[in-house]
Amino acid sequence: MIKIGILEGSLRRASLSRAVARAATGLVPEGMQAVALPNPGSLPLFNQDILDEGMPDPAAAMIAAVEDLDAILIVTPEYNWSIPGGLKNAIDWLSRVNPNPLARKPAAIWSVSPGLLGGARVHESLRQTLHCQEVIIMAKPEVQVAGAKGKVDVEAGQITNAETETFLRGHLVAFEAFCQSWRRA
Ligand code: FNR
Repeated sequence: MIKIGILEGSLRRASLSRAVARAATGLVPEGMQAVALPNPGSLPLFNQDILDEGMPDPAAAMIAAVEDLDAILIVTPEYNWSIPGGLKNAIDWLSRVNPNPLARKPAAIWSVSPGLLGGARVHESLRQTLHCQEVIIMAKPEVQVAGAKGKVDVEAGQITNAETETFLRGHLVAFEAFCQSWRRA
């Protein structure tokens, strides 16, 4: 069994990407168990002065949750062609522990946007930051959920577009195989 943690990139209540992240827990294949990681909004803005006084509880909780995983799925919007600040802040906190709990964990990225490009540009920014953590990123197949307003039910945390749901299920099957290949390596 591969335990994957789902990390949300959005902090807002009516988030489209959070709805996709919530739905993802029900889309994983049999060989995977999905758990929701704490939302990055639970973390203070990283400041070395805070860390010098000790790891704050919300950051310690995020670190412990990631340590307990085999792999990670990031479901995020794109902000200004890049990583939303809250998500980058979460990665910054995780990067301040030794050993880094992200290191050598397989990861997949799903971007979600109401726009037509589906947040395609956040992938490159995230890949750069995750490489720095020695994360093993599954580059393909890519997931960009474009036009997301018509594809999710935010209240229910469900995908309402059957084609999108099928595609995401298939992606998780591919991600399971990717994780298994690294487990054997
Ligand atoms: C955006 N949005 C956006 N969308 C996009 O496709 N590419 C982008 O570069 C940006 N940039 C951006 C910056 C900021 C600061 C905000 C607040 C928004 C729009 C964004 O995709 C939209 O608000 C989503 O609904 C945000 O995701 P959640 O919160 O619904 O998951």
